[in-house]
Amino acid sequence: MQSVNEYYSAVQLRTDRWSSLRESLGTLARNPDARGSVGLRKRIVQLFDALTVIEPYWAFPGMAAFDMLRRQFDHGHLEAAAFATHRITRALTSGAYRRRHIPLERDLADSEDHEDEALLSPEARALSKPYFEVLIVDDVNEQQERWLKANMTRMRRPEDPFIYEPVVVPSVEDALIAVLFNHNIQAIVVRPGLSLKSRTELAILKRYLNRAGGAEGIETLSPEDYGPETCRLIARVRPELDAYLITDRSVEDIAGHDLGICRRVFYNQEDFLELHLNILRGVQSRYKTPFFTALVNYSKQPTGVFHAMPISRGKSITRSHWIQDMGAFYGPNIFLAETSATSGGLDSLLEPHGPIKESQELASRAFGSRQTFFATNGTSTCNKIVVQALVHPGDIVLVDRDCHKSHHYGMVLAGAQVVYLDSYPLNEYSMYGAVPLREIKHQLLALKAAGKLDRVRMLLLTNCTFDGIVYNVERVIEECLAIKPDLIFLWDEAWFAFARFGPTYRQRTAMNAANNLRERLKSPEQAKAWEKQQAKMKDADDETILKTRLVAPPHARVRIYATQSTHKTLTALRQGSMIHVNDQDFKGQVEQSFHEAYMTHTSTSPNYQIIASLDVGRRQVELEGFEFVQRQVEAAMSMRRAISTHPLLQKYFKVLTAGDMIPTEFRESGVESYYSADQGWTDIWECWEKDEFVLDATRVTVAVGGTGWDGDTFKTQILMDKYGIQINKTSRNTVLFMTNIGTTRSSVAYLIEVLVEIARSLDDLHDDASKMERLSFERRVKSLVEDLPPLPDFSRFHDAFRADQVTAEGDIRSAFFLAYDEDNCDYLDLTGALRTALESGREVVSASFIIPYPPGFPILVPGQVVSREILAFMLALDVNEIHGYRPDLGLRVFTDEALARLDRKGLADAAE
Ligand SMILES: Cc1ncc(COP(=O)(O)O)c(C=O)c1O
Repeated sequence: MQSVNEYYSAVQLRTDRWSSLRESLGTLARNPDARGSVGLRKRIVQLFDALTVIEPYWAFPGMAAFDMLRRQFDHGHLEAAAFATHRITRALTSGAYRRRHIPLERDLADSEDHEDEALLSPEARALSKPYFEVLIVDDVNEQQERWLKANMTRMRRPEDPFIYEPVVVPSVEDALIAVLFNHNIQAIVVRPGLSLKSRTELAILKRYLNRAGGAEGIETLSPEDYGPETCRLIARVRPELDAYLITDRSVEDIAGHDLGICRRVFYNQEDFLELHLNILRGVQSRYKTPFFTALVNYSKQPTGVFHAMPISRGKSITRSHWIQDMGAFYGPNIFLAETSATSGGLDSLLEPHGPIKESQELASRAFGSRQTFFATNGTSTCNKIVVQALVHPGDIVLVDRDCHKSHHYGMVLAGAQVVYLDSYPLNEYSMYGAVPLREIKHQLLALKAAGKLDRVRMLLLTNCTFDGIVYNVERVIEECLAIKPDLIFLWDEAWFAFARFGPTYRQRTAMNAANNLRERLKSPEQAKAWEKQQAKMKDADDETILKTRLVAPPHARVRIYATQSTHKTLTALRQGSMIHVNDQDFKGQVEQSFHEAYMTHTSTSPNYQIIASLDVGRRQVELEGFEFVQRQVEAAMSMRRAISTHPLLQKYFKVLTAGDMIPTEFRESGVESYYSADQGWTDIWECWEKDEFVLDATRVTVAVGGTGWDGDTFKTQILMDKYGIQINKTSRNTVLFMTNIGTTRSSVAYLIEVLVEIARSLDDLHDDASKMERLSFERRVKSLVEDLPPLPDFSRFHDAFRADQVTAEGDIRSAFFLAYDEDNCDYLDLTGALRTALESGREVVSASFIIPYPPGFPILVPGQVVSREILAFMLALDVNEIHGYRPDLGLRVFTDEALARLDRKGLADAAE
């Protein structure tokens, strides 16, 4: 039996304990007197003991059934116990307990076997009532517990849209453990009799308390505050849940409390029907999908199509002789739902007033924004919309240089003066990390010293980065606001939509930071802290400011935007994205320009299927986002553990840890890795709370240099061609395995099998290799692991595109359009003309974006001076794909004449 310490997740521990119990009881029941049965019995007792601590947090099979099972075993009814355990494990795996009662006695079970889950059609499954569990927090005895449960289940009515089962736990701490462990819980009923401390001793469960922020300070509470405190603490970790507080205190007493997620307070009542109806209504408000439902209803209506959309209702397909296969493949519904109608119950994405508006409002609630806008053409478009809405021509924008290309094009379109920020390089793996806060503050201070702070409009960062580096969002915002109190932030969360639904991850999302800051900036403590710091730092020099953790002033404005590719990490059709806004000045200053920008970039024929999928994706995350994200993290953690502890895999592969991808100075917690063979799991909560950067564990970067293949070859020729495994990203010597909310333990197991097979084949190859072959392999590995060109920093914009030489901002738009005229451009080949030009001291300026893939970020942008480091990097890169570069012609650069003309024009403009 794996020890508890080896488990990252209590959910996996539970599943494994149940299947071990099933196996052991099965073996014993088949042959109770076999040799070794004494050991087996002992093991079964251990498993029962382990499950006794876990099961009180779950409704199925429930403690009554569990105790009965144990009694059957204790009394030697082995067959009955084995049978019941088999049924329980099967129901837990298939989820059958969600749909029907599971009889555990053989006689009853046999008569119901025709209802076997495997035989259930997808339609029947879809039509069964969704199931959830309701947590009741009350320190009651067994008899009272039975009474409570019976009262709750007695309220069921045939017309109820959902079905639920109650789970009873005694204390505030148990409630916190339960909501973080049992993902079936959707509602919590907090009763006056609850106690404070959990009696559980299981470390893996106690770990959940750290995740709830340690629940510090609760010891000092008086018992009548336990109830309100439970609602408040749960709100911090599971804000999407509903709580109902039953109290015997007066209305006035309760009114002063922060009740977190409490939807309703019942004053000393036992009105179970009212409670039941409220619980159902609460879940219904998350379940409803206004646009999806409207689209389904629309598709059922008979309509005549007299508009330009022959595919609508499948008409052009059903009558076709040649494209019937398309109809057969997609089925009729997708075409019945294809329409351009904006009435008849539907709505217009460009001017939403009906179900799209309502769906966006629900998404806003789910993601913690003030306004949310759907986009049907990806985050590439969302980024351009936000930038255009907020940036005026000439505004200064700070941008991380290795951000997605949509931002660079956005800067061109908006006419921004761009200050590119350098991320810390990871030369060893040929990839970038993220932008250190020091670098951001340094640029802001330089702009301040030059008297340009009033023109600085926006900071734009990618969180998390493609490789999974995650910023300390709240800290970055706060420290920047301390220098520039009205700065606007655009966080590109293309890869981070899921983060809101994991309590640890949520802390580092833009919307969470925005909401925290809004609260915090209003508090008297913040005002005091700011005044104190102001007094202390009155004459501070830049170095002191850079070293100090700055406090934002109370008058700072919270102006935060996030763009998310919902389709990348949650359920949505491709291109389904969202813009989340949390800007105190949106209504007064931005709404109109946002609308214009939205119109600029949004198609007038948005795809309804995408919008509907965003609506349903939102429903999913509000009801099971927590479960799915938890499973995803679990899968990623098992993958990390499996690769890093497998003796054969260690020879050729290395899973990069936080320690490998984040330099020590950015890891204040000192946490190097989330798992180590000798220390087991590190609780990531602490580093996620503190460190400047953390690693998103769901993105597993594996160094493959030891195999002798570069990242791209490993991806295409080995993983893809031989094993059908798809991945997105590689660097020169790494590949990135991304897990997602659909990743299962078995898909992880398959990947591990494949890696083991690859490692074995490499071992075989080496066994038979000649001396020459071995030498050549070693050389290849060395070149991949050691001979890596250092990643170049952003050099600078050429003076022709800069206002002065004091600060770094450059006019990327002028450079971009200057290159439209071929006469302004020339081509220099890298090893000949370009090298000679640089050696002779000529300033060579790029006329295009040059984006080698990998690593996939621009090493040159229009108007940027080509440095020797950049040339060296380009020459050392042995990648096939360099976007913007024409190997037959060379690097596209501006002619000296074009630059000189621009310089003269600049001088003339300045003279005017
Ligand atoms: C950081 C980042 N932002 C934006 C995008 C563009 O998103 P979409 O594919 O939804 O247009 C990507 C795409 O990979 C990305 O990596």
